[in-house]
Amino acid sequence: MAVLTLCNQNRTLTDEGEIRDYLSTLGIDYERWPTTDRVAAGAPQEKILEAYTDEIEKLKASGGYVTADVIDVSPETPALEEMLAKFDKEHWHDEDEFRFVVAGSGLFHINGRGGEIVAIEVTAGDLIRVPRGTHHWFNLCADRRIRAIRLFQDKTGWTPHYTDSHVDRNFAPICFGPRQPPQL
Ligand SMILES: [Fe+2]
Repeated sequence: MAVLTLCNQNRTLTDEGEIRDYLSTLGIDYERWPTTDRVAAGAPQEKILEAYTDEIEKLKASGGYVTADVIDVSPETPALEEMLAKFDKEHWHDEDEFRFVVAGSGLFHINGRGGEIVAIEVTAGDLIRVPRGTHHWFNLCADRRIRAIRLFQDKTGWTPHYTDSHVDRNFAPICFGPRQPPQL
């Protein structure tokens, strides 16, 4: 379940509906897909894609996506820091950035219209679609681990275009981490 922080207001949203409503004002789609009854988070990539075939095919039909894959990032990933350094500076893409998190977590910062910076921590079960052209940057959380389904409209559109605004330097990539269920 995601946590959304309105950085300029120091306000945090944790309710699924409130997060979805706020992100929709930025043109960002947010959904929850079930994870527990589908496939083990550590299953091979083709099993992950197979488990979510219905949702993926529906999205392909509606969003013009042509391919799907699973990205695996962990502390063991070769050249991890170089890879992360491509995306932790404010940038945009010529195509949507679509992620469904199967395991692990990550932190998107969105530079919305009017200068409001929004941080969205995504964890297993969270789907986020950041539309093409949206200024954003991405960090891993402390465990430096994420496994996510990606959908692509055209892989050549995936190159980041940097704004060189350096606004990202003003926001520490702090994740809340897994939240405990309420104590009864
Ligand atoms: Fe990006």
